[in-house]
Amino acid sequence: MCFSLSNLKTLFCGIEFKNPIITASGTFGFGREYNEIYDIQKLGGLSTKGLTLNYRKGNNGIRSYESSYGLLNSVGLENPGIKNFIENEREFLKNKDLIKIANLGGKDEYEYIEGAKLLDQQDFIDIIELNISCPNVKNGGMAFGINKEDAYKITKKIKSVVNKPLVVKLSPNANDLVAVAKACEEAGADGLSLINTIKAMEIDINKKKPIFDNVYAGYSGPSVMPIALRMVHEVCKNVNIPVIGMGGITTYEDAIKFIMAGASLIQIGTANFIDQEAPLKIIDGIKNYMIKENIESLENIRGII
Ligand SMILES: Cc1cc2nc3c(=O)[nH]c(=O)nc-3n(C[C@H](O)[C@H](O)[C@H](O)COP(=O)(O)O)c2cc1C
Repeated sequence: MCFSLSNLKTLFCGIEFKNPIITASGTFGFGREYNEIYDIQKLGGLSTKGLTLNYRKGNNGIRSYESSYGLLNSVGLENPGIKNFIENEREFLKNKDLIKIANLGGKDEYEYIEGAKLLDQQDFIDIIELNISCPNVKNGGMAFGINKEDAYKITKKIKSVVNKPLVVKLSPNANDLVAVAKACEEAGADGLSLINTIKAMEIDINKKKPIFDNVYAGYSGPSVMPIALRMVHEVCKNVNIPVIGMGGITTYEDAIKFIMAGASLIQIGTANFIDQEAPLKIIDGIKNYMIKENIESLENIRGII
């Protein structure tokens, strides 16, 4: 269970976060570049770029497109592969005092399982976040998170090979999100995170073609916030495991709303591209709000809606 220790500290699956703010997978690399801008140890945690067993080159064509509505991306899980990640990032991450979440992707069951085993052996990783919700890969990814049967099967398999807390990242594109959330809980997930990006598209009317080679892409940023908030609320009301809320969170007010909807922790994604210091401003904003409202612990407002 999750409860606050004092002030911003949050206990999540037996792990203490110094504050509830985590940077979201795919928007923060492995933390190195941002650490040149600010001390990433001010964060509660970071979630790595999606990692797969083997190196992935990612998608061809345009990979991110900033529309007047929000951000669309089609990165396609480009990453160095788990072995390279361990070799190159272990030293950097193990010395950093924040919670490290490894975001795990895969094209099939074998890749997911072998990747999970490798990550589970690493002393510098605290939590595994199983991404069964990426809309930008042809094989695997979101396919595992669309219906409750597949989500149950993959969660159960991964849970049987890991000792670290397992958080399953859900897709807003699921047929029945609450059913998928409950299936993951039943299969042994220690926590859930949501939402990943929403399947969307854009068209270049001059070229008369879709912007993205894959036609569809993942949509994120401030405009998805009320949808994500509703989804986090629905899931929190229907499961007994802790939830990490995300989707369009840009201000401390947004973050407080997700906590009131029931989220234990918060991830900040696209907002990092709008203002690199957004997570720090959100931490300060939550702190000031608590002082102003005389709230000793986030537990006092968690899930009150
Ligand atoms: C460029 C980009 C890359 C992303 N890559 C990943 C990824 O590798 N794994 C993952 O689980 N989510 C990935 N996401 C999804 C985010 O972690 C987050 O779930 C989503 O963007 C919604 O939050 P936001 O609106 O705050 O960005 C990515 C998002 C963006 C914008």
